[in-house]
Amino acid sequence: MRQFLLVTDLDYTLVGDDQAMARLNQRLEQHRQQHHTKIVYSTGRSLFLYQKLIDKKALLEPDVLICAVGTEIYYSNSNTLDSKWSDYLSEGWDRDLVVNISKAFSELKPQPNTEQRPFKVSYFLEEEKEISGNCLSDLESRLLKKGLDIQVICSLGSSTHINNLDNNYKDGKDLEIQVLDILPRKANKGMAMTFVRENLEIDVAQTVACGDSGNDIALFADKKEKGIIVGNAKQELLKWHEANPNPNRYLAKAQFAAGIEEGLQYFGFFEG
Ligand code: GLC
Ligand code: MG
Repeated sequence: MRQFLLVTDLDYTLVGDDQAMARLNQRLEQHRQQHHTKIVYSTGRSLFLYQKLIDKKALLEPDVLICAVGTEIYYSNSNTLDSKWSDYLSEGWDRDLVVNISKAFSELKPQPNTEQRPFKVSYFLEEEKEISGNCLSDLESRLLKKGLDIQVICSLGSSTHINNLDNNYKDGKDLEIQVLDILPRKANKGMAMTFVRENLEIDVAQTVACGDSGNDIALFADKKEKGIIVGNAKQELLKWHEANPNPNRYLAKAQFAAGIEEGLQYFGFFEG
């Protein structure tokens, strides 16, 4: 067995089945001690909501924490922000202009202030509206026309998490809501993964990313890193996966952390 780098989403990927996560955590911690394997969390949550999650769930301490859909990178116990990454993202990014243009779209409801981040503008999309419909392309083209170097990322999110209300994960489906993040074009979960991987000096072949929803597509798109999609993945990711097949990507049968464990075995990072 050799060192590897695990980059995993949290909500409904690593987190969702406490027992399966406890089992996976034990194996990962052992691997970390024996082989210097690195654990990186990549979440859409702000640092504030990440801290709410770790108050409730028994997560391992990650080696690196990526928050706010790839736009913030933290080291050593979430205290140190990687300013090199922030400096790089700030070039050509005009947050106020993004917010002003987006205001014209009445179907977009701003998410709470905790989720509005320096390099991330986030909305809920009214339920009856189609996320792939005109609103989205119209918004994107208006932002691009203004010369803004942005990307719009759509996911099925949980309004309960985002509003910082209690959720035991048992009935996540009832809480689903379409969400939309506007980020600098230079940042998403995939780009942040590559940046962190290069800093840690770990080979692509020894790197594996795991996810369940739309904001995780960037972890898998045009990537040489291996990918695991958990069995409970959302439609937007499954559809994309079917349309963009890649032998480096594994769709697990098991859900949540058990799906990650299945994938790690499939790729030979864990013994079967
Ligand atoms: C997380 C964030 C939210 C974001 C969503 C999708 O739930 O809290 O702001 O919109 O991920 O990326
Ligand atoms: Mg998720």
